[in-house]
Amino acid sequence: MKIDVMVATEAHLNFVPQINDEIDAAAKQRGTGIARRTDEYIADKIKSGKAIIAVNRNEFVGFCYIESWGHDEFVANSGLIVRPQYRGMGVAKRIKQAAFELSRKRFPNAKLFGLTTGEAVMRINTELGYEPVTFAKLTDDERFWAGCQSCVNYDVLQRTNMTKCLCTGMIYDPKKVAARKEAAKAAAKKEGWFSRLFGK
Ligand SMILES: CC(C)(COP(=O)(O)OP(=O)(O)OC[C@H]1O[C@@H](n2cnc3c(N)ncnc32)[C@H](O)[C@@H]1OP(=O)(O)O)[C@@H](O)C(=O)NCCC(=O)NCCS
Repeated sequence: MKIDVMVATEAHLNFVPQINDEIDAAAKQRGTGIARRTDEYIADKIKSGKAIIAVNRNEFVGFCYIESWGHDEFVANSGLIVRPQYRGMGVAKRIKQAAFELSRKRFPNAKLFGLTTGEAVMRINTELGYEPVTFAKLTDDERFWAGCQSCVNYDVLQRTNMTKCLCTGMIYDPKKVAARKEAAKAAAKKEGWFSRLFGK
Protein backbone atom coordinates (compact mmCIF):
# COMPACT_ATOMS: atom_id res chain seq x y z
CA MET A 1 0.00 0.00 0.00
CA LYS A 2 1.33 3.45 -0.93
CA ILE A 3 -0.68 6.38 0.38
CA ASP A 4 0.06 9.71 -1.26
CA VAL A 5 -1.00 13.01 0.29
CA MET A 6 -1.15 16.08 -1.97
CA VAL A 7 -2.96 19.29 -2.86
CA ALA A 8 -6.09 18.07 -4.67
CA THR A 9 -6.45 18.92 -8.37
CA GLU A 10 -9.19 18.65 -11.00
CA ALA A 11 -8.04 15.05 -11.52
CA HIS A 12 -9.64 14.29 -8.12
CA LEU A 13 -13.07 15.81 -8.84
CA ASN A 14 -14.52 12.33 -9.42
CA PHE A 15 -14.05 11.62 -5.68
CA VAL A 16 -16.30 14.51 -4.58
CA PRO A 17 -19.55 12.56 -3.91
CA GLN A 18 -17.60 9.88 -2.02
CA ILE A 19 -15.77 12.50 0.07
CA ASN A 20 -19.09 14.12 0.98
CA ASP A 21 -20.70 10.76 1.83
CA GLU A 22 -17.77 9.79 4.10
CA ILE A 23 -17.90 13.15 5.95
CA ASP A 24 -21.65 12.70 6.40
CA ALA A 25 -21.40 9.09 7.62
CA ALA A 26 -18.69 9.99 10.17
CA ALA A 27 -20.73 12.92 11.53
CA LYS A 28 -23.77 10.64 11.90
CA GLN A 29 -21.69 8.04 13.69
CA ARG A 30 -20.25 10.62 16.09
CA GLY A 31 -23.76 11.98 16.64
CA THR A 32 -22.64 15.56 16.04
CA GLY A 33 -24.72 16.27 12.96
CA ILE A 34 -23.12 18.67 10.52
CA ALA A 35 -24.66 20.51 7.60
CA ARG A 36 -23.79 18.56 4.46
CA ARG A 37 -21.73 20.70 2.13
CA THR A 38 -22.91 20.63 -1.46
CA ASP A 39 -20.81 18.67 -3.92
CA GLU A 40 -20.27 21.99 -5.72
CA TYR A 41 -18.75 23.51 -2.57
CA ILE A 42 -16.25 20.66 -2.19
CA ALA A 43 -15.49 20.75 -5.94
CA ASP A 44 -14.90 24.49 -5.70
CA LYS A 45 -12.37 23.97 -2.90
CA ILE A 46 -10.52 21.48 -5.08
CA LYS A 47 -10.60 23.71 -8.16
CA SER A 48 -9.28 26.69 -6.17
CA GLY A 49 -6.34 24.65 -4.78
CA LYS A 50 -7.65 24.76 -1.21
CA ALA A 51 -7.99 21.06 -0.51
CA ILE A 52 -5.70 18.20 0.49
CA ILE A 53 -6.40 14.65 -0.59
CA ALA A 54 -4.89 11.28 0.33
CA VAL A 55 -5.10 8.45 -2.18
CA ASN A 56 -3.99 4.83 -2.39
CA ARG A 57 -3.41 4.52 -6.14
CA ASN A 58 -6.93 5.09 -7.55
CA GLU A 59 -8.69 4.78 -4.21
CA PHE A 60 -9.85 7.71 -2.07
CA VAL A 61 -8.31 7.61 1.44
CA GLY A 62 -8.79 10.98 3.13
CA PHE A 63 -9.49 14.66 2.69
CA CYS A 64 -9.50 18.14 4.23
CA TYR A 65 -10.06 21.67 2.91
CA ILE A 66 -9.25 25.19 4.03
CA GLU A 67 -11.64 28.07 4.57
CA SER A 68 -10.85 31.68 5.41
CA TRP A 69 -12.91 33.90 7.69
CA GLY A 70 -12.98 37.52 8.87
CA HIS A 71 -11.39 39.00 5.73
CA ASP A 72 -8.70 36.28 5.67
CA GLU A 73 -7.60 37.08 9.23
CA PHE A 74 -8.49 33.53 10.29
CA VAL A 75 -8.14 30.22 8.44
CA ALA A 76 -9.73 26.92 9.46
CA ASN A 77 -9.01 23.40 8.22
CA SER A 78 -12.40 21.75 7.81
CA GLY A 79 -13.99 18.53 6.67
CA LEU A 80 -11.13 16.32 7.87
CA ILE A 81 -11.95 12.72 7.05
CA VAL A 82 -10.04 9.46 6.79
CA ARG A 83 -11.94 6.40 5.55
CA PRO A 84 -12.40 3.89 8.40
CA GLN A 85 -10.18 1.19 6.86
CA TYR A 86 -7.25 3.64 6.70
CA ARG A 87 -7.47 5.02 10.26
CA GLY A 88 -4.75 4.68 12.88
CA MET A 89 -1.97 4.77 10.28
CA GLY A 90 -0.97 8.42 10.58
CA VAL A 91 -2.92 9.54 7.49
CA ALA A 92 -4.80 12.36 9.29
CA LYS A 93 -1.50 13.62 10.63
CA ARG A 94 -0.08 13.80 7.10
CA ILE A 95 -3.22 15.48 5.74
CA LYS A 96 -3.25 18.07 8.54
CA GLN A 97 0.47 18.75 8.05
CA ALA A 98 -0.12 19.36 4.33
CA ALA A 99 -3.19 21.54 5.06
CA PHE A 100 -1.14 23.48 7.59
CA GLU A 101 1.63 24.12 5.02
CA LEU A 102 -0.93 25.07 2.36
CA SER A 103 -2.69 27.47 4.76
CA ARG A 104 0.59 29.10 5.76
CA LYS A 105 1.54 29.52 2.10
CA ARG A 106 -1.83 30.86 0.91
CA PHE A 107 -2.56 32.98 4.02
CA PRO A 108 0.85 33.74 5.64
CA ASN A 109 -0.53 36.31 8.08
CA ALA A 110 -3.67 34.46 9.13
CA LYS A 111 -4.25 32.79 12.46
CA LEU A 112 -5.08 29.12 11.92
CA PHE A 113 -7.84 27.76 14.11
CA GLY A 114 -10.20 24.88 14.65
CA LEU A 115 -13.00 23.59 16.84
CA THR A 116 -13.00 19.95 17.83
CA THR A 117 -14.14 17.39 20.38
CA GLY A 118 -11.77 14.78 18.94
CA GLU A 119 -8.61 13.68 20.72
CA ALA A 120 -6.86 12.78 17.45
CA VAL A 121 -7.30 16.32 16.09
CA MET A 122 -6.26 17.86 19.43
CA ARG A 123 -3.07 15.80 19.39
CA ILE A 124 -2.26 16.68 15.77
CA ASN A 125 -2.99 20.38 16.29
CA THR A 126 -0.81 20.50 19.39
CA GLU A 127 2.07 18.96 17.48
CA LEU A 128 1.63 21.61 14.77
CA GLY A 129 1.93 24.41 17.35
CA TYR A 130 -1.76 25.16 18.01
CA GLU A 131 -2.83 25.92 21.57
CA PRO A 132 -6.22 25.75 23.27
CA VAL A 133 -8.03 29.09 23.63
CA THR A 134 -11.42 30.44 24.66
CA PHE A 135 -13.90 31.13 21.87
CA ALA A 136 -13.35 34.90 22.30
CA LYS A 137 -9.92 34.48 20.68
CA LEU A 138 -11.40 32.86 17.55
CA THR A 139 -12.97 34.61 14.58
CA ASP A 140 -16.13 36.63 15.20
CA ASP A 141 -17.21 36.05 11.59
CA GLU A 142 -20.90 35.15 11.87
CA ARG A 143 -20.70 32.95 8.77
CA PHE A 144 -18.28 30.64 10.60
CA TRP A 145 -20.46 30.33 13.72
CA ALA A 146 -23.55 29.76 11.57
CA GLY A 147 -21.93 26.43 10.69
CA CYS A 148 -22.53 25.30 14.30
CA GLN A 149 -26.31 25.60 13.94
CA SER A 150 -26.70 22.07 12.65
CA CYS A 151 -24.69 20.59 15.54
CA VAL A 152 -26.71 18.69 18.17
CA ASN A 153 -25.02 20.78 20.89
CA TYR A 154 -25.93 24.16 19.42
CA ASP A 155 -28.25 24.89 22.37
CA VAL A 156 -25.17 24.88 24.66
CA LEU A 157 -23.47 27.49 22.49
CA GLN A 158 -26.62 29.60 22.54
CA ARG A 159 -27.08 29.29 26.31
CA THR A 160 -23.52 30.48 26.89
CA ASN A 161 -24.02 33.43 24.59
CA MET A 162 -21.64 31.89 22.03
CA THR A 163 -18.74 31.87 24.53
CA LYS A 164 -18.32 28.12 25.12
CA CYS A 165 -19.52 24.69 24.04
CA LEU A 166 -18.37 21.06 24.04
CA CYS A 167 -15.72 21.71 21.40
CA THR A 168 -12.26 22.95 22.30
CA GLY A 169 -11.06 25.96 20.32
CA MET A 170 -7.44 25.76 19.16
CA ILE A 171 -5.37 28.41 17.47
CA TYR A 172 -2.00 28.77 15.75
CA ASP A 173 -0.98 32.42 15.89
CA PRO A 174 2.07 32.92 13.60
CA LYS A 175 3.12 36.11 15.42
CA LYS A 176 3.04 34.40 18.80
CA VAL A 177 4.88 31.35 17.50
CA ALA A 178 7.60 33.57 15.96
CA ALA A 179 7.93 35.55 19.22
CA ARG A 180 8.21 32.30 21.19
CA LYS A 181 10.93 31.03 18.85
CA GLU A 182 12.86 34.31 19.22
CA ALA A 183 12.58 34.14 23.02
CA ALA A 184 13.83 30.52 23.02
CA LYS A 185 16.75 31.51 20.76
CA ALA A 186 17.65 34.43 23.05
CA ALA A 187 17.46 32.16 26.13
CA ALA A 188 19.71 29.56 24.46
CA LYS A 189 22.19 32.30 23.51
CA LYS A 190 22.19 33.62 27.09
CA GLU A 191 22.76 30.14 28.44
CA GLY A 192 25.70 29.72 26.05
CA TRP A 193 27.20 32.92 27.41
CA PHE A 194 26.83 31.75 31.01
CA SER A 195 28.41 28.37 30.25
CA ARG A 196 31.34 30.03 28.51
CA LEU A 197 31.83 32.55 31.38
CA PHE A 198 31.35 30.20 34.31
CA GLY A 199 32.07 26.84 32.71
CA LYS A 200 28.65 25.41 33.60
C1 LIG B 1 -10.19 11.76 13.37
C2 LIG B 1 -9.58 11.05 12.17
C3 LIG B 1 -9.45 12.06 11.02
C4 LIG B 1 -8.18 10.52 12.58
O1 LIG B 1 -7.58 9.92 11.45
P1 LIG B 1 -6.35 8.89 11.57
O2 LIG B 1 -5.71 8.81 10.23
O3 LIG B 1 -6.81 7.63 12.16
O4 LIG B 1 -5.39 9.64 12.62
P2 LIG B 1 -3.83 9.40 12.77
O5 LIG B 1 -3.53 7.95 12.56
O6 LIG B 1 -3.08 10.36 11.91
O7 LIG B 1 -3.58 9.74 14.31
C5 LIG B 1 -3.19 11.01 14.75
C6 LIG B 1 -3.06 11.01 16.26
O8 LIG B 1 -4.34 10.85 16.86
C7 LIG B 1 -4.40 9.66 17.65
N1 LIG B 1 -5.71 9.07 17.43
C8 LIG B 1 -6.21 8.59 16.26
N2 LIG B 1 -7.47 8.18 16.43
C9 LIG B 1 -7.78 8.42 17.74
C10 LIG B 1 -8.93 8.20 18.52
N3 LIG B 1 -10.05 7.69 17.99
N4 LIG B 1 -8.89 8.57 19.83
C11 LIG B 1 -7.78 9.09 20.36
N5 LIG B 1 -6.66 9.34 19.66
C12 LIG B 1 -6.66 8.99 18.36
C13 LIG B 1 -3.25 8.81 17.15
O9 LIG B 1 -2.77 7.93 18.14
C14 LIG B 1 -2.23 9.87 16.81
O10 LIG B 1 -1.66 10.38 18.00
P3 LIG B 1 -0.08 10.36 18.27
O11 LIG B 1 0.54 11.13 17.15
O12 LIG B 1 0.07 11.03 19.58
O13 LIG B 1 0.29 8.92 18.23
C15 LIG B 1 -10.45 9.82 11.71
O14 LIG B 1 -10.67 8.98 12.83
C16 LIG B 1 -11.79 10.24 11.13
O15 LIG B 1 -11.90 10.47 9.92
N6 LIG B 1 -12.83 10.35 11.97
C17 LIG B 1 -14.15 10.79 11.55
C18 LIG B 1 -14.19 12.26 11.16
C19 LIG B 1 -13.66 13.18 12.26
O16 LIG B 1 -13.82 12.94 13.44
N7 LIG B 1 -13.05 14.29 11.78
C20 LIG B 1 -12.49 15.31 12.67
C21 LIG B 1 -13.47 16.40 12.85
S1 LIG B 1 -12.83 17.66 13.94
